[in-house]
Amino acid sequence: MDFKLTEEQELIKKTAREFAIEHLEPGVIERDDKSETPKEQVKMMGELGFLGMMVPEKWNGAGMDALSYVVAMEEICRIDASAGVIMSVNNSLVCQIFLDWANDAQKQKYLTKLATGEFIGAFSLSEPQSGSDASNMATFAQKDGNSYVLNGTKNWVTNGLTCDVVMVMIPTEKNVGYKGISCFIIEDGMAGFSRGRKEDKLGIRGSETCELYFDNCRVPAENMVSEPGQGFRIAMKTLNGGRIGIASQALGIAQAALDKSVEYSKERKQFGKPISAFGAIQSKIAQMATNIEAARLLILKAAKLKDEHKPFAKEAAMAKQFASQTAVDAARECVQIHGGYGYMQEYGVERLMRDAKITQIYEGTSEIQEVVIARAILGE
Ligand code: CAA
Repeated sequence: MDFKLTEEQELIKKTAREFAIEHLEPGVIERDDKSETPKEQVKMMGELGFLGMMVPEKWNGAGMDALSYVVAMEEICRIDASAGVIMSVNNSLVCQIFLDWANDAQKQKYLTKLATGEFIGAFSLSEPQSGSDASNMATFAQKDGNSYVLNGTKNWVTNGLTCDVVMVMIPTEKNVGYKGISCFIIEDGMAGFSRGRKEDKLGIRGSETCELYFDNCRVPAENMVSEPGQGFRIAMKTLNGGRIGIASQALGIAQAALDKSVEYSKERKQFGKPISAFGAIQSKIAQMATNIEAARLLILKAAKLKDEHKPFAKEAAMAKQFASQTAVDAARECVQIHGGYGYMQEYGVERLMRDAKITQIYEGTSEIQEVVIARAILGE
């Protein structure tokens, strides 16, 4: 497989990098501290085409491929992983569902706005009792005439607090397991739909996470995506692509950890020489760089398979599992290399360690990625 970036992809990488340095880096520590979303910057990301990257121009998107998307994601997350997850959810979960499953009327009404950032989207699968066992839902949508009445609670919804549109997976038939789950488009302001408080999180504190509540929320049947009972398959297939996005987020965090480690270790002198001259530091840097290279190749392979319309669930799971472990390891070693300074908030290093952890949890834990990989290999 040839992973050489085209001229256009190189330009996207450069644009994303310059944008991140100019507009996301200032204030990133303060936003993390205060749990503030980079609202203005997200708006600008929409204007640059970063919120609907794989959406064809026909639907107001940037008309790019998955390879361009992962390259941009890495650069954004290298500076601000919170902005990165807002971008990732909007692109690879929300826009992707519309692209693959929605009808033209739904695409016209929602996708054209989501692709430009005029609307921000969220994706809602998990419930308080069902995370990894995602189909074990307690929510229910009862058909009533030409609408459905939704009841129950969803949780851990990224972008949930202020999004305009949520793609919600919710059962419309009982006792048939995942085959009874359907996918609905929920709009801001629908009666009976409300949101919980902003969750106080360990990392990615510049992105909002909250619960969603449905209390006899009446949703027109035309807001269902695809057919009744297709929701779980929609979620699973879409999450394959989402996992490439989160792997790229992890890669950006890991790369930032390496960059900071290299810079600091050359500057910091102990025992009369830069600490980069010590074997213990060199070993950490060598391991970080090797794992980052391997993670990047896994991500590019998964993205390329997606672009070629070939199966990529296993490769996406491998990329996420490996890249997220790489991010956690690299960020921890980066703090270690920085010593006492690494433990201080103002150096922006401890944030990497906190941000990295979630990449092993959301869009399927590392343990779930291993289930996906093992099932694909064992043919189960
Ligand atoms: N790709 C495509 N289809 C898949 C799939 C995949 N990776 N995994 C399962 N499916 C399909 C199966 O083919 C099957 O469909 P068919 O009947 O059409 O063949 C259906 O889904 C049910 O599959 P299983 O019987 O394998 O289901 P299961 O109950 O054993 O669960 C699981 C499988 C892999 C454990 C799944 O539950 C899972 O992925 N869990 C993790 C959930 C998750 O990733 N949550 C993330 C929340 S969203 C989030 O974090 C977003 C955010 O805010 C950032």
